[in-house]
Amino acid sequence: MKLAIDFVRAQFPALAGEWVFLDNAGGSQTLKQVADRIHQYLMTSDVQLGASYEISQLAGQRVKAGARVAAELVNAEDECEVILGSSTTMLMKLLSLSLVETFKPGDEVIVTNCDHEANIGPWRNLEKRGMIIKTWRVNPETLELHLEDLAALMTEKTRLVALTHASNILGTINPIKQIASFVHERGAMICVDGVAYAPHALPDVRQLDVDFYAFSFYKVYGPHYSVLYGKKAHLLRMPGVNHFFIAENDVPYKFQPGSSNYELSYGITGIGDYLTGLAEVHAGQAGGREVKGLRDAAALAYECFAEHEEGLSARLLDFLNSRSDVRIIGKKESGRSVRMPTVSFVIKNVKSSTIPPEVDKHKIGIRYGDFYARRLIEDLGLAPQDGVVRVSMVHYNTLEEMDRLIRVLETLQG
Ligand SMILES: Cc1ncc(COP(=O)(O)O)c(C=O)c1O
Repeated sequence: MKLAIDFVRAQFPALAGEWVFLDNAGGSQTLKQVADRIHQYLMTSDVQLGASYEISQLAGQRVKAGARVAAELVNAEDECEVILGSSTTMLMKLLSLSLVETFKPGDEVIVTNCDHEANIGPWRNLEKRGMIIKTWRVNPETLELHLEDLAALMTEKTRLVALTHASNILGTINPIKQIASFVHERGAMICVDGVAYAPHALPDVRQLDVDFYAFSFYKVYGPHYSVLYGKKAHLLRMPGVNHFFIAENDVPYKFQPGSSNYELSYGITGIGDYLTGLAEVHAGQAGGREVKGLRDAAALAYECFAEHEEGLSARLLDFLNSRSDVRIIGKKESGRSVRMPTVSFVIKNVKSSTIPPEVDKHKIGIRYGDFYARRLIEDLGLAPQDGVVRVSMVHYNTLEEMDRLIRVLETLQG
């Protein structure tokens, strides 16, 4: 289905400027609706929640509406399963600190070497508490995580497997449903980092059957704010991190010390409105399809994103594949079922750090480095080259923008 790109771009005021934003895996532009909601909250309902007076009641409803959007976006069964916090890094840390209290020394946790450190470091730190940490490495040839390698690492002591839904360097999508069922059959839990997935595809924690799942709204067109989903049964039995008088059955509050951020919670309702608006615009194209609620609207909107983004990836990958001096770090194909439109590459004999400054001159924002997936960059031997150059698109980018970038890259030879 063809994305209504003019409608899309009009919702992001920053896109009216002269810059081309191709560092979206670092952070996307913010929707006007989101900024408006944050402003509206602060200007009209900036009071403490839970009091009887009218404005406090309104503030409570607004904050709750944000949590509801977060719950819909991950497809949680119950709204109490979503914990809101400042960042995925912080939420993963908090999760590890709580979960470790339910583990015993000698228990095992498996992490990958291809995740952002947010879903590695907190788990590796549990070594200090007597846990054994093992690493599931990507196959250096395929750059994929293979189940047989996981099978070799798992024992009856494995309590948790932590991995990413999509790599923020490789763009590769991991088959989480299959991995989750493999992990569950062996009696362990799975914790998934959805940060590089959620800007492009709609997470579904029920369909995936994951135990924990997190992503950050600042990469999904919203503010610097994040959500961690946890299965209710786990959250209820895990110790909280809030004050002693916060009840053990008070989820998610027992995991939100100092509470959630009120204005940002309300802000994310703007993402819901955007997806609903987009679905309405596209419903006609889908044979007058009836859109039933936010989840359905989001599914339709994301379907349009994926098709459009695949075209953007194809344009860039065709160019990169045609260059003998370029090595793509990740899948060479653009198919949306195998990769996200996050494309990393190196140019032979060229330090990656020298490329973005040349591109900057043309008012195009891209980036180089390890993107906090340092272990992957080191294991692939790319650290001496200053990591990779990463071009990361989202649905508001255009083919014209890709061509503008390609014209600049054509001038940079290895
Ligand atoms: C895949 C991935 N996971 C986690 C993070 C960390 O997210 P946050 O900045 O919300 O802690 C990032 C940020 O770049 C990321 O790309």
